[in-house]
Amino acid sequence: MGSENSSDILNQIGNTPLVKLDSLSIDNATYFAKLEGHNPFGSVKDRAAYWMIKDGEEKGKLTRGKSIIIEPTSGNTGIGLAGIANVLGYKVEIVIPEKASDETKNIIRSLGAKVFETSDDLCPKVGAGTDQSIALATSIASSRPDTYYSPNQYANEANFMGHYMGTGPEIWKQTDGKITHFFTGVGTGGTITGIGTFLKEKNPNVKIIGCQPQQNHLIQGWRNFEESSKPDLFLKRESVVDDWVSVNNDEAFSVVKEVLVKDKLLISPSSAAVYACMKKYKIGGNRCVVGIFADDGRKFKSIYAAQNIMNEQEFNDGLREAKHMSKLAYSL
Ligand SMILES: Cc1ncc(COP(=O)(O)O)c(C=O)c1O
Repeated sequence: MGSENSSDILNQIGNTPLVKLDSLSIDNATYFAKLEGHNPFGSVKDRAAYWMIKDGEEKGKLTRGKSIIIEPTSGNTGIGLAGIANVLGYKVEIVIPEKASDETKNIIRSLGAKVFETSDDLCPKVGAGTDQSIALATSIASSRPDTYYSPNQYANEANFMGHYMGTGPEIWKQTDGKITHFFTGVGTGGTITGIGTFLKEKNPNVKIIGCQPQQNHLIQGWRNFEESSKPDLFLKRESVVDDWVSVNNDEAFSVVKEVLVKDKLLISPSSAAVYACMKKYKIGGNRCVVGIFADDGRKFKSIYAAQNIMNEQEFNDGLREAKHMSKLAYSL
């Protein structure tokens, strides 16, 4: 974990940069990416993980040195929970779909967590009968209720609060209240409902646009609502979403190189999917558009090679050229 002490690392959660996307911006339209890869464990989910652990401690559900945190996740929540728990003195067990990238699973293991793989879709499904990762985590947790605690990000209000209290206000401030449109994908719905609710309280005219991947997609962290039910956390405030835009695997992967060349960003599949949605969604007039880039491309070398997006050499060259690469609290 390097030489930094634990509170330094946890203090680095949030306050991520907002970077202008020159490739999409024109005179009366400015497009920005909120670079959530700058969180210490590399993604937007550090926020939810931290808020859920703090909430568990405040409610007396977690005891340092005793409790084991168990959670089903498509990857980033697992990395965030494992990293933060490591700092705070909890053991962690993560249930993850086997399709998640090898890098993701290795990072979770390197942070000291136990990993269970299921043959679930890329985003753990919610809904009886389809929810392998969630069912396995629940069954392990119920075997030792005195020891295990599952934050259950799919229904945990602290996940929403991390964005309502953190990411939403940051975006409002970073755009001087000028934001007109907000784009993000949906896993649990914490990001879209937390940020969306805050922005609409500030200005009800801000448009909240959700990105929907195709069925059987390759966008780690996202959920297609035809394949998998809507999580409770999302359902609670789904009316905050004004519109949806669909994006398929090819559209997403096809912009990875474009953004590297034009904006000098090495982006993840989900960031590419958000970029593709922002690019194709027609908006007229003056606009200030923000998209969540939930993590960066560093843990997707194997996926980009498998999808013929970039071979190893191109990936390593891209990594050298890329701007805005953050320092992570673990090595890849
Ligand atoms: C990789 C990734 N993980 C998670 C999320 C958001 O997830 P949630 O809806 O759980 O807040 C996104 C959304 O942009 C994402 O791209």
